Amino acid sequence: MTIRVLHVASELYPLLKTGGLADVTAALPAALIELGADARVLLPGFAGVAAGLSELRPIARLERGFGISEATLELGRLPGNDLPVYMIRADAFYARPGNPYLDDEHVPYGDNAQRFALLGWAAAQLAQHLDPDWAPHIVHAHDWHAGLAGAYLRAAARERGAASAPPARSVFTIHNLAYQGIFPAQQFGELGLPPDFFDMHGVEFYGQLSFLKAGLFYADKITTVSPTYAREIQTVAQGGGLEALLKGRAHDLVGILNGVDYRVWSPAADAAIAARYSVTRMSGKLRCKAALQQRFNLTQKHDAPVFGVVSRLTEQKGLDLLLAALPDIVSRGGQLVVLGTGDASLEQGFARAARQHPEAVAVELGFDETLAHAIVAGADVMMVPSRFEPCGLTQLYALAYGALPLVHRVGGLADTVTDASLENLADGTATGFVFERFEPDALTAAIRRAFALYARSRDWRETRARGMREDFGWAASAQRYMALYRELV
Ligand code: ADP
Ligand code: GLC
Repeated sequence: MTIRVLHVASELYPLLKTGGLADVTAALPAALIELGADARVLLPGFAGVAAGLSELRPIARLERGFGISEATLELGRLPGNDLPVYMIRADAFYARPGNPYLDDEHVPYGDNAQRFALLGWAAAQLAQHLDPDWAPHIVHAHDWHAGLAGAYLRAAARERGAASAPPARSVFTIHNLAYQGIFPAQQFGELGLPPDFFDMHGVEFYGQLSFLKAGLFYADKITTVSPTYAREIQTVAQGGGLEALLKGRAHDLVGILNGVDYRVWSPAADAAIAARYSVTRMSGKLRCKAALQQRFNLTQKHDAPVFGVVSRLTEQKGLDLLLAALPDIVSRGGQLVVLGTGDASLEQGFARAARQHPEAVAVELGFDETLAHAIVAGADVMMVPSRFEPCGLTQLYALAYGALPLVHRVGGLADTVTDASLENLADGTATGFVFERFEPDALTAAIRRAFALYARSRDWRETRARGMREDFGWAASAQRYMALYRELV
């Protein structure tokens, strides 16, 4: 039997991306299709999505508008890989310039509950043959934006009669437990869900409405994006108040590591970088490094280790710790290149450091896909000192591009990078630098290890080659999702 699965999310690379979610929602369905699944995606019709999909055609009018008068479902394709994508055209909700979740002042839009309820509701409608030509067996929702899909499926079952099964089985994937989609209780009434769903055993969370909790409560299976994070979120320290629910559902919860789309992230075939290279022909990497130093007006020194950052500048990413350690990088003769956007205090902190050390520190504030590739290609070390990290893709891209990842030992970072300790070097397993305690001196010690290894160029080259040879492709993870779907249908 061919499994039909609908991925419900708010971002899709390359049409709309604020973080790793978009990379996953593009690559995972494609990998599932390669395994024989019939996978499609459902997205809100944000400007970038509406402009980027090809062959868009209307499928059905959406009867419920959550306060707006006009909403339709359309079907198109993702140019490049032909992935079928349903899009909700509801311009009053989605056709806003800039960030999909926040207004110009970086404040969440006041109608986010309605904007994303429409997404979850439309997913449940698709499971009930809104498109006469296609309906999913599995509705696979990602993060809080799609969190109500499972609740609407359950509500549909209730309407059909007490003993009915929902029209599709459901999977919910946690990409980040820190974003919970919490709204005032008063907004519950606008969602059209059965009143008794506003309950501790339902969508209610400490008196408020939580889309994330709805996702976790109503899904048949829960996944998250690394095995370590799956354990961490069952603890008080990292459960965000949902640890008891997650623990209670422990045997429906599994951690499946994200993969890398090597069609997008391979230095041997990357048009966005200054020169192509591979593990057996590394000279291009030196050219990428020189190009990066030139692009940012850093001192042109091939033997100064370049540390790179490509990141959302948020509390999660631990870059305040890097700001504290930055003088150490500079005084040891290293260079730092930062690309990111987010919290004003971090943006200002890095901008100030760049003004103080223009020859050694460079910062670009913004979101720039091409530059992200250029930095990973040109850097010797990629820094990911996150406080917590569900999976993390940057360190995986770094491994592929021969930039040694330097990471905090949490979540997916712990699952994917092996520290260059003496014993791991001796055993031939080291791929990067890992620090344990989230404290400045622990990060500084890891930076010092990076300098020490850099000075031992043979060990450096071996470690780098090992990382480049690792395979974090999607095939293995997609198999695991397929096994989960099969269990459900
Ligand atoms: P998260 O999803 O928490 O942001 P990940 O490491 O999983 O972290 O994914 C981040 C993705 O976003 C990567 O593809 C990374 O290259 C990209 N990215 C982050 N910030 C920027 C930026 N300022 N410009 C371009 N790409 C960025
Ligand atoms: C989230 C997480 C990140 C993960 C990404 C894709 O944004 O912060 O760790 O890699 O989702 O799953």
